Amino acid sequence: MKIDPWSSTTYQDYARLRDEFGIQEFSEDLWKDLPHPQRLLRRGVVFGHRGFDIIHDAIQKKKPWAILTGLMPSGRMHLGHKMVIDEVLYYQSLGADIFIAVADIEAYATRGFTLEQTKELAINEYIANYIALGMDLKKCHLYFQSKHQDVKDLAFLLGKKVNWSQMVATYGFEGSTNMAHIFSPLVQTGDILHVQLEKYGGIRPTLVPVGVDQDPHIRLSRDIAQAHRLYNVTVTKDNKIGVFIKVDTNVKELLDAAENILKKLLFTDLTRITEYKAIYINTAQEKDITRIDETLAHIEPSFQGYGFLQPSSTYHRFITGLTGDKMSSSKPESAIFLTDTPQEAKKKIMNAKTGGAVSLEEQKKSGGKPDECMIYELFLYHLIEDDSELKNIYESCKKGELMCGMCKKRAAEYMEKFLNDLQEKRKKASGQIQEFLQ
Ligand code: TRP
Ligand code: SF4
Repeated sequence: MKIDPWSSTTYQDYARLRDEFGIQEFSEDLWKDLPHPQRLLRRGVVFGHRGFDIIHDAIQKKKPWAILTGLMPSGRMHLGHKMVIDEVLYYQSLGADIFIAVADIEAYATRGFTLEQTKELAINEYIANYIALGMDLKKCHLYFQSKHQDVKDLAFLLGKKVNWSQMVATYGFEGSTNMAHIFSPLVQTGDILHVQLEKYGGIRPTLVPVGVDQDPHIRLSRDIAQAHRLYNVTVTKDNKIGVFIKVDTNVKELLDAAENILKKLLFTDLTRITEYKAIYINTAQEKDITRIDETLAHIEPSFQGYGFLQPSSTYHRFITGLTGDKMSSSKPESAIFLTDTPQEAKKKIMNAKTGGAVSLEEQKKSGGKPDECMIYELFLYHLIEDDSELKNIYESCKKGELMCGMCKKRAAEYMEKFLNDLQEKRKKASGQIQEFLQ
């Protein structure tokens, strides 16, 4: 199996995908004790993660952390795109520092848009809706890739530690792939890691909430972050915890600095072997590694390093299209766009694929299948906040008490309310956009 971030594949078996790519399960202990957990977390829509433990820890200990998300302005914004923003808004309420990248370079490189076209789409489709959904542009850092010098510089400089074979293995690039496309994952790495530069808040845990199609970019960014580190803290073959210097300059100074830090962390029983560029910490345990590593990361900038912590990620399932396959901007009947009128949305809802039986009689007898129903999915992902209301629908559907006609009507009503409200708020958003564009 290969994940291609630019294809239009749908994914069915998320558990298998998770196992195959070494994504961790987003288990209850990661979200249960967060303040008022967001519905996509509660309901298993977010199904996997890499390194979320560090974010969980930062939230609990009220330490600084950041979120970086990106939008590709290559079509109209639909409900599938809304999920990330719902997640981001939730994390913002927990104190995350928010960064939003408009991926105009990627849209230019991979989708054939001009930068002018992407600007238009980004503003009218995405940014207007983000504000309408509750994002306050004054409280976040929103930027266009093509205009961000530090992101572009990083993309170029970080490329030093990735080679062509790795890019081919990750993305399946071919001889005919254009160079801007080949370079675009590095720009995304620039997006993800720039938030840890001193100027943007410094070294700190960073969460990138994405759909699972973005995992190749996440792996690349995590690998690159690690590759540029000066220190490596790890368990050795004979089960010791060691700090190793990965570079050949300033080895003595780096070892001195590490020794100092370790003593401050109250590890006193150290064995330093300068020829191995190593310090063994005789009393440390595996659970100490993260803390030691994070502390050492912070001194790397004084040795011309970046000290990037590996970015963390979460993965959400894709919402299914109303037609039963992928929700996609290129198939308008599959998607509900945030700028659809309630009438347009209603029509799509009425035509949607449900988990209903072939006849009313049959459905009364054997019940419906909410797990295979696009209407139920709309409730679950977007329209119903109250868990008990949702559970009610699920159960009465299964028992054959609820019929699809009623259910669709309810979905259309909720959707109408949502879309009307959003439209109102979009109108009010134009002031904020003007201000941002100045
Ligand atoms: N590649 C993303 C997409 O196709 C957009 C994106 C660019 C992004 N930079 C990012 C997403 C950084 C997350 C983080 O939608
Ligand atoms: Fe879906 Fe509702 Fe029909 Fe059940 S009754 S299959 S939830 S539309």
